[in-house]
Amino acid sequence: MFEALKPLPQDPILQLMQTFRDDPRPDKVDLGIGVYKNDAGATPIMAAVHEAERRLLEGETTKSYVGPAGSQGFNDAMARLILGNESSLIRDGRTSVVQTPGGCGALRMAAEFLRLCQPDTTVWVSTPTWANHLPLLGGAGLTIREYPYLNQNTLQVDFNAMLEALEGARAGDVVLLHGCCHNPSGADLTLDQWQAVTTLIQRKGLLPFVDMAYQGLGDGLDQDAAGLRHLASQVPEMLVAASCSKNFGLYRERTGALMLISATATINAAATSQLLSVIRSHYSMPPAHGAAIVETILGDEGLRKLWQDELDGMCKRILHLRHAFADALAPAGDFGFIARQRGMFSFLGITPEQVRRLREENGIYLLESSRVNVAGLNDRVLPGVAKAIRNIL
Ligand code: LMR
Repeated sequence: MFEALKPLPQDPILQLMQTFRDDPRPDKVDLGIGVYKNDAGATPIMAAVHEAERRLLEGETTKSYVGPAGSQGFNDAMARLILGNESSLIRDGRTSVVQTPGGCGALRMAAEFLRLCQPDTTVWVSTPTWANHLPLLGGAGLTIREYPYLNQNTLQVDFNAMLEALEGARAGDVVLLHGCCHNPSGADLTLDQWQAVTTLIQRKGLLPFVDMAYQGLGDGLDQDAAGLRHLASQVPEMLVAASCSKNFGLYRERTGALMLISATATINAAATSQLLSVIRSHYSMPPAHGAAIVETILGDEGLRKLWQDELDGMCKRILHLRHAFADALAPAGDFGFIARQRGMFSFLGITPEQVRRLREENGIYLLESSRVNVAGLNDRVLPGVAKAIRNIL
């Protein structure tokens, strides 16, 4: 039966990663896939991760199964990271967290869970959004609707258009929001805007679903979660998909978490049992290693400080690169929005043809949509990249 299948093109982000790897030019620059690079252009293992791995290797006593929810220690630590140590939601038993294979695993399990709750669920996603949101959520059978998010001319949030579109959502519809560091635009909601969206969600009876893939890489761990925490404090139910790929640099270890927030502890216990059954029928149990690293780091004061200092350094470095990049592009136009945006990504606002020329003539790789990974820059390559972009403009 396989002979009827037609070959499919690769996911554009992964395809670009491969093309970059195959490019023999020594001075090529990868601003495609969302991976943090240091001053030397490398993506090293974080020091706290290294140390946690060493301890795990020495102390690990078994490779027996972990169970569909993964490690409870990891899950509890992630709940506190997302909602804060003092969260009354955690205290009241209204939350549960399950360890998942990456943020993708969390997104997909959330989608499968939502379909179980309500087979004809509609989920509203921002235009634009991370390309993989569509197959992850749509592939589970959810109906996808889009709300405008970015003004294509200013490359800033078009908040009125967003609210206007969400007025068209029906009670029970799901709204997917990016917790911080919007992918692909870098344009985040202000706290005032989070409050206004929260009011709309409450008034219309919508279910918020927050994708938190970059906590700590925008303005800091707590600052990045401020909007999410406000929302969580006001609504009866909510979902959060979290990823440890970027803030712990655990990309290939596939480490993430899915949080359920319910109106009461009793409802939450029943909902969690359903979620665990969904997980059992998909991948049975998550891989252990990445979560064990995170649990070790977050559970040890010294390691946690080491990790947080390194993460803060990465966050500050991205902010520095954003300012330096905007300044270096300034002679060709107003790129101040790059300095104001947060996280790894911003759009340059150039055409696919200009993107192709940058790749072919200069070995500079960015997505066809003109999304650049600012965290792929460093002070050594930045002037050359900016010059090539100015030339093309
Ligand atoms: C990205 O958007 O580049 C990252 O989230 C990596 C991925 O899997 O697409």
